[in-house]
Amino acid sequence: MRFFHELIRTLAKQGDPYAKVLAAPDDPYPHYEELRARGVLYQSSLGTWVTTNHKLANEVLRDRRFGVRKANGEKAPEFMQFDNSMLGLDPPDHTRLRRMTTPTFNPRMAERWRTRAEKICHRLIDDLLATGDRFNLMTAFAQHLPIAVIADLVGIPEEHRRTFYVLSREITPLLDGVVTYEKKQSVDAALAGMTKLFTGIIAQRRADPRDDMISRMLPMVDEGRLSMAELVPLCMFLPLAGSETTVNLIGNGVLALLRHPEQWEMVAERPELAAGVAAETLRYDPPVQTYRRIAHEPIELAGVSLPVDGELAIVAGGANRDPDVFPDPARFDITRDIGADTLSFSSGIHYCLGASLAKMEAEVAYQVIISRMPRLRQAGPVRRRGSFIIRGMLEFPLSAS
Ligand code: HEM
Repeated sequence: MRFFHELIRTLAKQGDPYAKVLAAPDDPYPHYEELRARGVLYQSSLGTWVTTNHKLANEVLRDRRFGVRKANGEKAPEFMQFDNSMLGLDPPDHTRLRRMTTPTFNPRMAERWRTRAEKICHRLIDDLLATGDRFNLMTAFAQHLPIAVIADLVGIPEEHRRTFYVLSREITPLLDGVVTYEKKQSVDAALAGMTKLFTGIIAQRRADPRDDMISRMLPMVDEGRLSMAELVPLCMFLPLAGSETTVNLIGNGVLALLRHPEQWEMVAERPELAAGVAAETLRYDPPVQTYRRIAHEPIELAGVSLPVDGELAIVAGGANRDPDVFPDPARFDITRDIGADTLSFSSGIHYCLGASLAKMEAEVAYQVIISRMPRLRQAGPVRRRGSFIIRGMLEFPLSAS
């Protein structure tokens, strides 16, 4: 691992813009512009092909000749360890799992959770205001909302929530792409803890079914359409995918609003503009900056011959600032007409399952924060997560007065 970091540093010093991105700088956006200047498709000295071009990225994500595994079905190196979760599977397994989970995550279901999300937000703000004027938005507020919603949705009983919360925090480095040896030990221990926890919860839900995802999926296990070896990783992956991303949509959006006070005021006057804050934050500073695809056959792309198993990094954070699609892309503007154009939730068959839920949660969070703490201001420097994949803050000190 140390070797990998040294290699990245050396290549970055030699001017490789992708290596500069992998070094996880606080501000990756100038490096995306360097990548853009190198062409539609740039091959890093690490071998990976990289694109920040919106049109090309969209084409690749919808092209079935690309997958997330190697051409022979083996797991691609350094992929997240949820081999059986949807994100790590190609069709036909991907298609089967995705169909089974869709009923839990359709946009109508997301709206059903709005009132519950509002209640959670108000309770969190009551708690944080009761403990004083200064707080870290990430730990005092943003982390709790998505995890509470997803725990309800998946079907985690109240008595297991604390353990679930602690274990979830410990497996988050998996989303950062590169896991150090030390972190791997604690991640593996937490994964083993999660497996045990969910095996128990699934047994509980079997005995006492409720209106949640686990109860809805158990009959599929009984019918032989889904194996327990798939259900358990799915239960573990959803909370991770749903919380470590949404937490940063909340944080990144509040940061952008505080840096653009005129737009904060606009939302204070017209709370319905919170939907625009979520959409523009997803474009301007997306929580998932990059993901990748593997060529399953030799492919000619933008004048380049990609070999079988050639790896392509889609830099969504860069594609979202492609000037051919978004005029004046470095400007944060919550009134911008974005449509469905950003790649923040990917595109094609792996399009984020929780997109509607995440947008709803963020909207509610912005509205409640602005209405309850109209004089909110930054009270110290932010500390970032230090990941080239997940963009967010660990510390975001704020003062409510
Ligand atoms: C702001 C919040 C979120 C962001 C930015 C985000 C981003 C993404 C992205 C970029 C992908 C696709 C990666 C790829 O194509 O390789 C993805 C997939 C996925 N996301 Fe999200 N996500 C968010 C919230 C959620 C939530 C709330 C859930 C569920 C509760 C969720 C569940 C999933 C699942 C299951 C997949 C895999 C879908 C598949 O492989 O078919 N995400 N997400």
